[in-house]
Amino acid sequence: MRVIIQPDAESVGRRGARFVADLVRRKPDCVLGLATGSTPLGLYRELIRLHREEGLDFSQVTTFNLDEYVGLGPTHPQSYRCFMQQNLFDHINVRPERTSVPDGRALDFELHCRQYEQKIKDAGGIDLQVLGLGSDGHIAFNEPGSSLGSRTRLKTLASETVRDNARFFGGEDKVPRLAITMGVGTILESRRCLLLAFGGHKAEAVRATVEGPITAQVTGSALQLHREVVGIFDEGAAGLLVRRAYYAEVEQAQSLLESGQLKALGLGGQ
Ligand code: F6R
Repeated sequence: MRVIIQPDAESVGRRGARFVADLVRRKPDCVLGLATGSTPLGLYRELIRLHREEGLDFSQVTTFNLDEYVGLGPTHPQSYRCFMQQNLFDHINVRPERTSVPDGRALDFELHCRQYEQKIKDAGGIDLQVLGLGSDGHIAFNEPGSSLGSRTRLKTLASETVRDNARFFGGEDKVPRLAITMGVGTILESRRCLLLAFGGHKAEAVRATVEGPITAQVTGSALQLHREVVGIFDEGAAGLLVRRAYYAEVEQAQSLLESGQLKALGLGGQ
């Protein structure tokens, strides 16, 4: 995993948006996997700015969201569909028919989950999947113990997640207990993953995800098996990483490579 450490949450969002924007410019009909929650908000704000001020064009982009609460319809203010409309889709020129969020009110969930997977395949697969990280180390709603080969399905939320999300619902008792979520296996099939986290409350989850053993108890750790993951963390979230100095060296080499300063890397000479 490539690890980029930024000074604060704001710059985590901006750095993440650069990866998304570069892809949209390079491949205008790309397929983006999107997340909800507080983590990607800064990234979405920056994408909206790039659309408004620099004409970043989403007209051919297709999107798939990771998850949705069971029981909430698209107009429910806490539904993830509503979140996406308010925080991104309504402010850029993505075509509504090209955006997909699982349907929390599907009558036949098994069929709906199978169709969601098929729709991703039909679109050519996900080019870049944006991910947040739960404080229990989950990605999407793949709670501890989820199979690392899991596909889109119904999942019971862990009590930790219910507690974390109670702030959006005005109380733990109002948080839905079930969600439809892409599986770990679904996420691992995306061509590239962008994992974002900020704040000291995520430090243990980030440590376990990046430097811990691969285990279904921390589903984020399955990303170690993926060949192209970029993790962008602020100082707080990166606080427990042991190999920070090495990650900084890699970034330095990367930027020398990108700016063509090959001599500084001992290349290009005799
Ligand atoms: C949201 C999702 C979740 C969140 C995670 C972190 O679509 O899949 O895995 O990314 O729970 O939530 P925040 O960003 O609110 O800390």
